Amino acid sequence: MIEKIPFHYTDDITVVNKDQYEAHLRLYEGYVKSMNTIDEQLESNPQREDANATFSYYRELKRGETYALNGIILHELYFENMGGLSQEPDRLLQNALVKSFGRMSTWGEDFVATAKASRGWAVLCYDQRTQRFRNISLDLHDLGNIAYSAPVLVLDVYEHAYFLQYADKKADYINNFMMNINWDVVGERMEGLF
Ligand SMILES: [Fe+2]
Repeated sequence: MIEKIPFHYTDDITVVNKDQYEAHLRLYEGYVKSMNTIDEQLESNPQREDANATFSYYRELKRGETYALNGIILHELYFENMGGLSQEPDRLLQNALVKSFGRMSTWGEDFVATAKASRGWAVLCYDQRTQRFRNISLDLHDLGNIAYSAPVLVLDVYEHAYFLQYADKKADYINNFMMNINWDVVGERMEGLF
């Protein structure tokens, strides 16, 4: 059984207001509930004998499994890496990003462009296979991920993440997020990779 993390809106969060944050949190809690239902069905009534790639209950469970679980993971990473008091990444992280992108400003421009180009998520991830960072674009929770990579910074760009507050001003939401990243959290994630 997966337990939801009890996130709370705090004063250091400036990218979204309390109403937007709490509406988003309810969606996250829905994914936790759905995942537990899927796990329960996989354990008790998966109907494996009827598994079929065109249509089957087992296929629906498998589609829902990665969608809901990635939805939980990405939302938790997103809620954790917003806010905070650190203004910029520490030296270690800056050096790592410069190594992969040439300059910090290039990384930032690329992350913003990735977010604008995405329908679901923009993720700064570390590709362990080639040992470099990439900004990747996900159109769904389970569509666009690199199979062997670790997410370090996550931005939700589904409309539900900003529309209540920003309406169609997606670029404003993204720009405000860039000024409200919890770099301490991002740094801790990165330190665990090397
Ligand atoms: Fe979301």
